[in-house]
Amino acid sequence: MNQRRSFLKTGSLAALAAPLMSFDSSKKWSLEPLVNTYSDTEEYWRMIRKQFPLKEGQTYFNNGTMGPTPGYVLNTMIDHMLHFNKEAATIDYKNGSGPELLSGYFPYQELRSKLGKIINCDFKELSLLQNATFGMNYVGMGLDLQKGDELINTDQEHGGGFGAWQLLAKRKECVYKQVKMPLPANDPQEIFDAVFKAVTKKTKVIAIPHIVSVYGTIMPVKAICTEARKRGIFTVLDGAQCVGQIKVDVKDIGCDAYYSSLHKWLLAPAGNGILYINKDVVADIWSTVASYNWDNQEDHGFRLMQNGTGNPALLAGFDAAVDFFNTVGEDRWVNRVKELGGYLRTGLKDMPQVSIHSSTNEEMAAGLTTYAVAGMTGPELQKTLWERERLQPRSVGSELLRHSVHIYNSKEEIDRALQVIRSLG
Ligand SMILES: Cc1ncc(COP(=O)(O)O)c(C=O)c1O
Repeated sequence: MNQRRSFLKTGSLAALAAPLMSFDSSKKWSLEPLVNTYSDTEEYWRMIRKQFPLKEGQTYFNNGTMGPTPGYVLNTMIDHMLHFNKEAATIDYKNGSGPELLSGYFPYQELRSKLGKIINCDFKELSLLQNATFGMNYVGMGLDLQKGDELINTDQEHGGGFGAWQLLAKRKECVYKQVKMPLPANDPQEIFDAVFKAVTKKTKVIAIPHIVSVYGTIMPVKAICTEARKRGIFTVLDGAQCVGQIKVDVKDIGCDAYYSSLHKWLLAPAGNGILYINKDVVADIWSTVASYNWDNQEDHGFRLMQNGTGNPALLAGFDAAVDFFNTVGEDRWVNRVKELGGYLRTGLKDMPQVSIHSSTNEEMAAGLTTYAVAGMTGPELQKTLWERERLQPRSVGSELLRHSVHIYNSKEEIDRALQVIRSLG
């Protein structure tokens, strides 16, 4: 890892990279502009916007689907790929530089430790996986479930939050239940009560989102996990939308397992996720994909990431994305997401033609806001925003628009969206 990092710092392959990339690689992105910049002004955020290769004059409001990658992160990743392809013959696999050739066989302790600091766990409790879907499956398939065991989801899961549980119900004859969520969800107690109404003595797993994909609701997961633990129920949280959108502290929440896709709100390159499993329960989780370390009882996080050969450039990019996040600073980052989300919701609340389907309890909302405009379908609204102002949120279902805001967005961009929507009244 150290060797890999040192060439990442010194490598200068931008000229070679040019034909392969659609953004201007001759502009060598770095973390330099971010370091020692302490202001929280709009000027600071304009500087942050410039760290992304996103085109000027267009606005991306769809982070809930996929986060754009900062230039520094892309550079790091692309340099890594070029480095290997140039230097392949000089790499001594057995002598420590293996991670330059391929990922999948190394513990990546340093990166896992950095990520562990972000969600508050030990690196041995954390696995590097492709995405949230892998996380859900590695937990579900790894649990020793029996016929008749009850598995609880909500009725607002993403496929990456329900697929494994439905599969297990069919394959192992478990009982699959979906809790009906309030809509909009403004009262945490109502969600808590809905979940525990479905719980019986046979309930083995509560698998719910930390943030709901479609509506952006921040769930009362700490209260639910605390109660579930008292009752001996295994809790697994789908945090695909969370790390980088809100603060996540897995120890404070008290869940047994937690997974996230960091190509969303942490702005890592596509194909980077994490899985956390609490050290007190991880020994009971079987490895789903097995290779050399499938039975490693010393480092369970490594045991659960035995995926065979992968692209090490992706992990170089992941590492750079974590550095980018830490350089901006977690507080400043998540506070800005929250500030922009609140700014959008405040603007929407005044418009009679708008119905907000997300939570309007600001304790339960952050960077995702889902709403409808009377007389328009979601796709029509999305098209109008793009055609009039080059703004790109995402329609969900037939009626709704899911509007994500992140640190590369500005209040001025939100104002333009509000202006278009106001004119539709
Ligand atoms: C709540 C939730 N869970 C799971 C996923 C699946 O994520 P991935 O495709 O990165 O595995 C998503 C993706 O949008 C999501 O929003």
